[in-house]
Amino acid sequence: MNPTLAKLTPNGQVSEILSEKIYDRMFSAHLELVPQLNEVYELELAYYESRILTDQEIMRNGAYFARVGDTFTRHFLICSGEPVRLPKHSSSRLRSFFQTNQFKTGYATHGLFPYRGKFHPQMIKGLINIMGLKPDDTVLDPMMGSGTVLIEARLMGIKSVGVDASPFCRFMARVKIDALTVPLAPVRLALAEAKSVFEYFGSKAGHPRSEALDLSGCQTVDLFGATQSSSWSARKASSVGLPQGCEEERIHNFLLLAYLDAAGYSQRSTRRPPFQQFQAILERYLFVAEKIQLVLEGAEMELAEAKPLEGDARALPLEDGSIDGIIFSPPYSFAIDYLENDQFHLGFLGTELSKLRQDMIGLRGRTPRQKYDLYKLDMEKVLAECARVLRPARICTIVVGTNNNQLSRILGVHPEEVQGIDELLCELGSSHGLRLVRRLSRQITGMANTMRTEFIIMLERV
Ligand SMILES: C[S@@+](CC[C@H](N)C(=O)[O-])C[C@H]1O[C@@H](n2cnc3c(N)ncnc32)[C@H](O)[C@@H]1O
Repeated sequence: MNPTLAKLTPNGQVSEILSEKIYDRMFSAHLELVPQLNEVYELELAYYESRILTDQEIMRNGAYFARVGDTFTRHFLICSGEPVRLPKHSSSRLRSFFQTNQFKTGYATHGLFPYRGKFHPQMIKGLINIMGLKPDDTVLDPMMGSGTVLIEARLMGIKSVGVDASPFCRFMARVKIDALTVPLAPVRLALAEAKSVFEYFGSKAGHPRSEALDLSGCQTVDLFGATQSSSWSARKASSVGLPQGCEEERIHNFLLLAYLDAAGYSQRSTRRPPFQQFQAILERYLFVAEKIQLVLEGAEMELAEAKPLEGDARALPLEDGSIDGIIFSPPYSFAIDYLENDQFHLGFLGTELSKLRQDMIGLRGRTPRQKYDLYKLDMEKVLAECARVLRPARICTIVVGTNNNQLSRILGVHPEEVQGIDELLCELGSSHGLRLVRRLSRQITGMANTMRTEFIIMLERV
């Protein structure tokens, strides 16, 4: 008999080995995994969920299970939703996005606005669970970007606070959080009158791709000011108005985010005329909000409070020991220039870019070397702040990619000798009382991405 087979099974039958199910060894038989679970780190997170959560908690908040016994989990239901259909003329790319990412990214309001470097929402839900966070706890994202952590926490009944230096991020996160419950009848009306909505926002900031788009002197849009005194009602008098009902702050901002999304896209691509782009994006926004609102109907009271703030992660506006868990993803040194990316949107909001640049981690400094040195200093301050606001024995999770090739050029050392950003953050964390308890990794497969590995670093506040 083949000695290898003899070693593996008592009677050396290949079929016996193949009939063993690996999942059955990892999970109790009454738990069924969601479809499309195909990466090792996902299996790891699912395993920890099954160890850390009760069945009831998996039903309510689990990220990786479709069924507990005979009952579908909430995650499965949120992602499957009622069969709200995509508009008939939607592109096959869009259809395939919603299908392939059904349980991963294409649910809730995560699909609104393609913010670069945003989190994978299902992973965030899994992390919130395995960090031991429960309803009534508060989770913080000190660099919230588009607010992925806040949206997930809100859906899970866990309170959240988010901070970002960019006013556009605060705006975007607020809109995405509100989109879970925003009244949609006026949005349908706005879609029917998309041309006047497009003209309305265009008249505030100029249209994208117009010859002399000078945002510096344009009127500042008072984002949260629909109910505040001066600006909004005065501007309503503009010759082109919004359809009735759309002046309400949350609806106005929902439409504005769609406009900014479309305008940003039109700045980068000429594939579609700007108005058509806006119409298509607004249609998609409406679809996304309708889909999740249908699922949440009747359960709105279970959504937790989510507070997106504008601020600096190096000086958090929070009390010592007031936070039960932290999840964030810092800029990967200087891989993405967020100000350049969001120039149009920030200009529209009246932000002074040169001033904001002084606060943006990863963008400070002139030469790449200076930038790297400042990045290190800034990240040390961020980690010190995380340690200050986090309760003892609680977890701070950092998701960060490592780009050793880029760093090796800047530092003038061989790629294999470069200290990865993940290692740097562990070192800085440990000097502020954040002890490494687990490091997971996931592969980045996108062709456009120069980073190959992303690390999930879990640090405990000692
Ligand atoms: C990788 S992105 C975060 C994306 C986010 N996880 C999401 O799901 O959308 C990093 C964020 O850090 C923010 N940032 C940069 N410097 C900051 C600072 N000093 N304080 C707070 N946020 C800052 C950037 O504006 C950017 O949104």
